[in-house]
Amino acid sequence: MIAAQEKALTHLVNRIGNLNAGPRRIGRLVAHDAGMMEVTGFDYPIGFGGTIRTADGKAIKAEIAGFRGSRALMIPLESDGSVRNGARVEPDMQSSMAQVGDGLLGRVIGPMGEPLDGAGPIMSDRDWPLAGKRSNVLNRGRVTTPIDLGVRAINGLLTAGYGQRIAIAAGSGVGKSVLIGQIIANADVDVAVVGLIGERGREVSDFVETKLDGPMRGRTVTVAVPADYSPVLRLRAAARATAIAEHFRSEGKRVLLIIDSLTRIAHAQREIGLSMGEPPTMKGYPPSALALIPRLIERAGNDKASGGSITALYTVLADGGDMEDPVVDTARAIVDGHIILSRLLSEQGIFPAIDVGKSLSRVAADIIDDEHRTAQTNFRRLWSAYEENRDLLLMGAYRQGSDPAIDEAVARHDDLLEYVRQGSRDAVSMEDSVTALQHGFGQRGNEA
Ligand SMILES: Nc1ncnc2c1ncn2[C@@H]1O[C@H](COP(=O)(O)OP(=O)(O)OP(=O)(O)O)[C@@H](O)[C@H]1O
Ligand SMILES: [Mg+2]
Repeated sequence: MIAAQEKALTHLVNRIGNLNAGPRRIGRLVAHDAGMMEVTGFDYPIGFGGTIRTADGKAIKAEIAGFRGSRALMIPLESDGSVRNGARVEPDMQSSMAQVGDGLLGRVIGPMGEPLDGAGPIMSDRDWPLAGKRSNVLNRGRVTTPIDLGVRAINGLLTAGYGQRIAIAAGSGVGKSVLIGQIIANADVDVAVVGLIGERGREVSDFVETKLDGPMRGRTVTVAVPADYSPVLRLRAAARATAIAEHFRSEGKRVLLIIDSLTRIAHAQREIGLSMGEPPTMKGYPPSALALIPRLIERAGNDKASGGSITALYTVLADGGDMEDPVVDTARAIVDGHIILSRLLSEQGIFPAIDVGKSLSRVAADIIDDEHRTAQTNFRRLWSAYEENRDLLLMGAYRQGSDPAIDEAVARHDDLLEYVRQGSRDAVSMEDSVTALQHGFGQRGNEA
């Protein structure tokens, strides 16, 4: 008991010690329109937070989103109360830091780092900048080692490596959340950090209760922000999840980072950009919304200095990997692989509904052996031969025997689907995934 009190006290003292001791500049609110506030005398960088004192003595948190002349443009984090012209704006010295460390393991927190799971305060005295620490690009290690994600179709056909960044693109209700839960439960990593951004509130609790109920729970940190929160908070949650992952990586750990969904993050920045007067470009996204995506994704990857890695999965909302969607397009340009989930497959009850033909791991060829690569190519050849002739086949316009390649694709089609199909509670190891692929994919690997 004494030890616990001592720990709490040390924690408190350390946090006080961490508070920045520089001069505090108090700002004044001078303009306010449509959720955007202008503040004079508040000379802090973008992303810095402040507290506005209202007429009725309440405090409203806000964050700097940009500048106009010498004025800071601030966005309130909560729906604003009765703010008055000339209101005091106090700087929030800890606002650009995220609390990180082992005290977060097994916990569910909100965008400001507040516990959401009712399990008491978070014991951790470490901080990490929300925006990340800039490191030399040469410190980024190449992706060289395959990672077992516990999903046969990914292990076998879209082999990923430690430190790889992958986009999962799918329409709504095609099985993204289930696939993510399956990967968290079975991936061969030390720690998982999950950012649930802009989900429906019910889904957050559902995710924590059902998808995180395995042994990984105690090694997982969840940062959640529902859809109805301010866009600034949604961005903050994404930055916080990434900062927490970066901290674990700096300790040499193998981290799995999952962001669900990148589209909702882009939407948040779109709201902010438009309210600051940025011009909308593609599909209403201002440039800042699309510029945010590479900045966030680039923070994942391998770190040569510590030997740690962040293997990251970002979900993107788009039916069949819609190329017209600017978020999909931007994300695909920067990640090292994408997994496209197909509504056609999910409608046939094939889960995970991975469209093997459209999905790709850009590092796979470099990290697997020749035999595995040959088996992959063979599978893909049969898959695409079927897909390319799907219409003909369904119309009955194809006559068996006209093309041996198509004949084979038709004969093996059920085997291919059977290889992809996997129960949401089952894990398939890398070894079993590869063995099954090399020995005629019809035979399933040993399933748990
Ligand atoms: N591996 C699976 N095995 C069986 N059924 C599945 C599997 N994956 C998904 N499903 C079915 O598909 C439904 C939707 O899945 P999920 O919630 O993962 O979709 P989503 O893409 O996350 O949806 P949303 O866009 O609403 O977030 C599930 O409720 C379940 O019925
Ligand atoms: Mg979902």
